[in-house]
Amino acid sequence: MSSTAQSLFSTRSAGFKPSAIREILKVTETPEIISFAGGLPAPELFPVEALAAAAADVLAEDGPAALQYGPSEGYRPLREWIARHVAATTGLSVRPEEILITAGSQQGLDLVAKILLDPGDIVLTENPAYLGALQAFRAYEADVVGLSADSEGMDPAELRHFLLNCPRRPKLLYLVPNFQNPTGTSTSLRRRAELAEVAAEFSLPILEDDPYGSLRYAGAAVPALASRPGAADCLYLGTVSKILAPGLRVAWIAARNRAFYDRLLVAKQSCDLHTSSLTQRIVERYVAAPGRLGAHIASLCSVYRARRDTMLAALARTLPAGSRWTQPDGGLFLWARLPGGWDTAALLPRAIAAQVAFVPGAPFWVGTDERATLRLNFSNSTPEQIVTGVARLGQALSAR
Ligand SMILES: Cc1ncc(COP(=O)(O)O)c(C=O)c1O
Repeated sequence: MSSTAQSLFSTRSAGFKPSAIREILKVTETPEIISFAGGLPAPELFPVEALAAAAADVLAEDGPAALQYGPSEGYRPLREWIARHVAATTGLSVRPEEILITAGSQQGLDLVAKILLDPGDIVLTENPAYLGALQAFRAYEADVVGLSADSEGMDPAELRHFLLNCPRRPKLLYLVPNFQNPTGTSTSLRRRAELAEVAAEFSLPILEDDPYGSLRYAGAAVPALASRPGAADCLYLGTVSKILAPGLRVAWIAARNRAFYDRLLVAKQSCDLHTSSLTQRIVERYVAAPGRLGAHIASLCSVYRARRDTMLAALARTLPAGSRWTQPDGGLFLWARLPGGWDTAALLPRAIAAQVAFVPGAPFWVGTDERATLRLNFSNSTPEQIVTGVARLGQALSAR
């Protein structure tokens, strides 16, 4: 990089960090490597034909409108469907006027950070937390603080203690209550109630990020935090990335607080004017067929459930004694902790040499130097690949 370019960069952009996962994914792109690293859905399950037919219909029937600029809020019929879908799946009663369509939830995270965060503002997250959210908050120079989470989610007593003792008032509480990335664990109903209560007591807005809620393989759905009485300031993010296809880049923010909505809308305008008119209409056409999305999600769940079970059984046969790992009821990931002095970042090159990849846990942790954890994705490999991949991981582990 020339020194001229360096001298032109904003102070803010000097702190931008490349995503640790994207760097690993570059290495794992070769077909010989079985990758548990990315968060990719299974491509063979994308409803390609149905989406091709939806795209053909959209272009044949609404061609010029689908190719024209559109409203920044999003395509009205899709916002109407999203409002119904969110109410039916999460219990959050929301009107179409409260839905802002975004180019992926990742854009939602960026927009929320953009309107709320000044340099040095505190954002509270579960520890460990989703890397893309950490990247978005840090891009606005926020101080991210990770609070302990266990198999039931973030600890409300620790949250309360932090809020009582923090000299600066935190700006935002970021939570992934369903099948969290990276751990796969969910926040229990009791904890959701307690966390919402503490946040309301301290007037702390919640950002609830829910890309995985519909991918449930066991247990009953738990209502969204945003649906709780008193959680009107909660911003709720949903996406079609994991239930349909991430390449569509169609997602939404539900914001019942009008001031938040209006500010997000202006932030979106300066970012990309609006989400693609074409892909919004393709998604709307796809979901408009009664029962189609539900049947598709049911088939995803049955395939992913089997993959999760295969990985759990393979880990039980393979990981060293004293290892622990989560048993997620849904989503795409599980999270393991190796015993003793294991450093999973040091293990990764050996795993890649054995032709298997995972994500070392360290970058997901906020403010702690945790080296013995790793994230494993089970959605993007067949059961046969999972068995072979975990056996290769076993070889890498025994090559220490
Ligand atoms: C917790 C979480 N939030 C947001 C995203 C981004 O999703 P999208 O494809 O909708 O941008 C992901 C993607 O893996 C995620 O795991």
